[in-house]
Amino acid sequence: MLLCTVVGLLAAAPLALAAKLEKVADFGANPTKINMYIHVPDKLATKPAIVVAMHPCGGSGTSFYSSTRLPSYADSNGFILIYPDTPNMSRCWDVQNAATLTHNGGGDASAIVSMVKYTLNKYSGDAERVYIMGSSSGAMMTNALAGSYPDVFEAGAAFSGIAFGCASGQGQATPMAANQTCAQGNIRRSPKEWGDLVRNAYPGYTGKRPRLQIYHGLADTLVRPACAMQALQQWSNVFGLDWSKNVTGVPSSAYTQVVYGDGTKLEGFFGQGVGHTAPVNEQLMLKFFGILK
Ligand SMILES: *[C@@H]1O[C@H](CO)[C@@H](O)[C@H](O)[C@H]1NC(C)=O
Ligand SMILES: *[C@@H]1O[C@H](CO)[C@@H](O)[C@H](O)[C@H]1NC(C)=O
Ligand SMILES: *[C@@H]1O[C@H](CO)[C@@H](O)[C@H](O)[C@H]1NC(C)=O
Repeated sequence: MLLCTVVGLLAAAPLALAAKLEKVADFGANPTKINMYIHVPDKLATKPAIVVAMHPCGGSGTSFYSSTRLPSYADSNGFILIYPDTPNMSRCWDVQNAATLTHNGGGDASAIVSMVKYTLNKYSGDAERVYIMGSSSGAMMTNALAGSYPDVFEAGAAFSGIAFGCASGQGQATPMAANQTCAQGNIRRSPKEWGDLVRNAYPGYTGKRPRLQIYHGLADTLVRPACAMQALQQWSNVFGLDWSKNVTGVPSSAYTQVVYGDGTKLEGFFGQGVGHTAPVNEQLMLKFFGILK
């Protein structure tokens, strides 16, 4: 009799809902009071990888969740997605602040690292496979986190961003800020000076650095393609890699792939006729991360 009831209840239960985006209230130290959203697939891999996906200015965790195909890749490959969300500064990340540009300095960067630690702990994630990506302001934050927290992230992908530290000292890094010197590609530094900004973010650090992909549209007038070249010069200096080749038509006819060293640590993609922002290429990015074979 009891068994029948149980079977009846099970049969009447609705089909399990597919994993969706959930808000997480208490994830740890959060000095700038930003928000955390998470997507945990129903079929989680053992020791799952984690990808942190950062929205552009004016965006949100929820809007960025529905603007790429990353959630379906997470579902089929069992990795976790974290969507940080900032209500501050016209919903742009604080990439101009010393706090975020300093290891353990606070700012949005330290809040995002709290989200990563919370997720690693709660879902027994793989600390060796934590990745960052973002679009526009989120791409700027990708470069910022790669510089300030090289110990946390294995690789990253920046779609239409700026070099680490490019916007520092000139007010807010938003399209509304009076000073657009950085976004217009007009900060002049040598590759070594760009590299020094990264090295000085975490003095004495000698461990691995996040591998990076830098994507940019050549028709971008809001954040000029020179900003992506500066990021590539910066990271090539940090890695000690030479610009080895240009490959036209990769990943598609409008693009040129610029390769540093053997391309496993640093590469860029510049799209002819592509404006702001360069579209997220989930497959190319996840292959570079090593999540897709
Ligand atoms: C960010 O916005 C939240 C919510 O409005 C606010 O509580 C917090 O103080 C802001 N943080 C900064 C650094 O402005
Ligand atoms: C804008 O920022 C640049 C770079 O930090 C600085 O050299 C320049 O003086 C600033 N311009 C104004 C008007 O503040
Ligand atoms: C790649 O192309 C750029 C722009 O034409 C050029 O300045 C650069 O020297 C090229 N790099 C290599 C390694 O061929």
